Amino acid sequence: MGKLDQINDEIARCRKCRLGYSRTHAVPGEGPEDAEVMFIGEAPGFHEDRQGRPFVGASGHFLDELLEEIGLKREDVFITNVVKCRPPGNRDPKPDELKACAPYLERQIEMIKPKVIVTLGRFSMERYFPGASITRIHGNHKRIGSTIYMATFHPAAALRQPKWRDTIRDDFQKIPELLKMAKEHPVEEEQSTPDDEKYTQLRLF
Ligand code: SF4
Ligand code: URA
Repeated sequence: MGKLDQINDEIARCRKCRLGYSRTHAVPGEGPEDAEVMFIGEAPGFHEDRQGRPFVGASGHFLDELLEEIGLKREDVFITNVVKCRPPGNRDPKPDELKACAPYLERQIEMIKPKVIVTLGRFSMERYFPGASITRIHGNHKRIGSTIYMATFHPAAALRQPKWRDTIRDDFQKIPELLKMAKEHPVEEEQSTPDDEKYTQLRLF
C-alpha cells in the first residue's frame, strides 16, 4: 500500500463536514508520491464529483494545456484541492468546511514534500498568502521551509475572463525556474511567514 492510499481511504469515507453527505465521490487528488510540483485548486466541481478525480472538466483541460506549455504532464505533478468534496451547486466552500478539510492537505504536503506549490485561485492562496490580493501577488513566490509557494489565478477564472489567460500563462512560465531554484538552494530551516512586501517577483528576462 502506497503512502497516500491510507489518506485517500480516509478522505473517501470522511464525514467531517456537511459536504461529505452531499458528494457523489470525494476527490483526494492524484499524482506521484514524489511529485516535485503540486497544484492546489479550490474544490471539486460537477465532473470531478462524478469521477472522483481532480480537474477533469473545462478548467482541467485548460490546466493540462498550461502544463504542456511548460513541458510538464499531468502524470508528473500532484493535483489536489483545499476542499476534497464538491460544495452543492459549486458554491464557495464555507469557513468550517475549509477548516475541517485542511488536515488532509497538510498531510498530503507532508508526505509528498513538493518543491514547488502553486495555488490556483483565492481559496488556496488564502492558506499560504493570508490576506493577500490575488491581482496584486499572482506570479510572486515565497519560501516556507524548503518549499517555494507561488499564487496564480484559478484556471476557471481565466476561462471566464479572457484577459487573465495570458496572465496565468505568464505565471506558469515561472514554474520551471522556481523548481530549479528550489533544487539549487534548499532551505532547511523554517522561516517566519513573510509579509506582503517580502514576496518576490521572479524576473525571467
Ligand atoms: Fe471530509 Fe473534506 Fe469531504 Fe468535508 S470536504 S467531508 S472534511 S473530505
Ligand atoms: N476546480 C477546482 O478548483 N478543482 C477541481 O478539481 C476542478 C475545478
